[in-house]
Order: sequence, then structure tokens, then C-alpha cells
Amino acid sequence: MKRSELNNYLREAKDFFKKHKFELPPWAFWSPEQWKKKGKECDEIRKNKLGWDITDFGGGDFKKLGLLLFTIRNGSYGEKSGKPYAEKIMIARVNQITPTHFHWNKMEDIINRGGGDLVMRLWKADKKEGLSKETFTVQVDGVTRKLKSGSLLRLKTGESITLEPYIYHRFWAEKSMCLIGEVSMVNDDANDNRFYDKIGRFPEIEEDEKPLHLLCNEYPK
Ligand SMILES: [Fe+2]
Repeated sequence: MKRSELNNYLREAKDFFKKHKFELPPWAFWSPEQWKKKGKECDEIRKNKLGWDITDFGGGDFKKLGLLLFTIRNGSYGEKSGKPYAEKIMIARVNQITPTHFHWNKMEDIINRGGGDLVMRLWKADKKEGLSKETFTVQVDGVTRKLKSGSLLRLKTGESITLEPYIYHRFWAEKSMCLIGEVSMVNDDANDNRFYDKIGRFPEIEEDEKPLHLLCNEYPK
């Protein structure tokens, strides 16, 4: 992706969060120059990869396959001290797919916090980590729902689902852009995402202009 496109998505995201009255911490708005002056006091942000994250899942077509995320808080996987929890705010565009995946460890609640509908397709993983044909149950706002393999679930604003480990999920927005919250156990993108199809994680960036904000994997050491 071009840096100019990433900058435009960041601008659009900041407007969208504002429109839905979802406020970000001050460091969300720091420039790369401001980051250069930050010291050890910001280690938690760097270490736990908090902040902006725009992914095309390596597909090169962000509007079809992609997700914009901002990690507000996160612990460090495998560490006894520190936060055992994480929170993200995300934006999915209409019909923009986050591809089929599950987490081996992380349990997560995915919440529709505003905008369009959040639509999910869900399966249980089988023993070989394929898509099981079995019926399974999920918690939707604390209410048990029985779902057939590959069922669609539509979450309206305010609704949420609890995804346990080994539940394959794929999601996108319908009607209009969706503001999506995530409250979960510690997030470890490097080791805890099992994608059904082989995909990438961070986009390759063509530097055609200066970054508006750094992405979570770009902070100076
Ligand atoms: Fe997930």
C-alpha cells in the first residue's frame, strides 16, 4: 500500500471515531517527529504494539480484504506480570472482509459499537484445524445461541459475540461502515492467529509521502 493511502485511511478513521464519540488516547495523534523524542516511558506502547494498525492481510486490495485497527491496551503474551487483557477499536468497510481465522489461546468479545451491521460467518474448528460440520454454541451478549456450521450472524449496534478459541470467524460490515470493539485476553498477532487461508499480516508500504502517524510496528526503538 502507498503511504498516501494509509494516511487517508488514518484521516478517515479519526473522523469516524469522532463521529461515533469514541475518543482515542493522546498518543494516537503523535507525529513521527514527536515519537523520535519519546523515551523509556513509552515502552509499553512499543513493546505491546499499541496503536494504529492497517492491514490488507497481504492481499494488496485493502477495500476487499482488510481491516483498520487501533489497539488501545494489551499485555505481553507469556508474561506473568502486566495486563492479562486487551482492547481494540476497529473499522470494517462495507463488504471488506477480515478473513477466516481462529485463535488458539485468545478469547475475545467482538462488539458492534456503531455504524452499519457487523456480519460474521462462523464455524467450529475440527481436530485438524479444518472447518467442522458440527453444530456449536456461542454466547451473544451472554445469551447462548446454537449455530449450524458456516452460519451467518448479524450483530446490530450494541450487540456482541464471545468467540472462544477454535471458533473460526470471518467478518465484514453491511449497510455502512462499522465501528467494531474488541475486548479480549492478551493479543499476540505473531503466534495466536490461525488463518484458514495462508495470508500476510502487515502491508508492504510504498513511501510516496511522509507518514501522518506511525503504525504499531514502526515506532523508533
Ligand atoms: Fe479474531
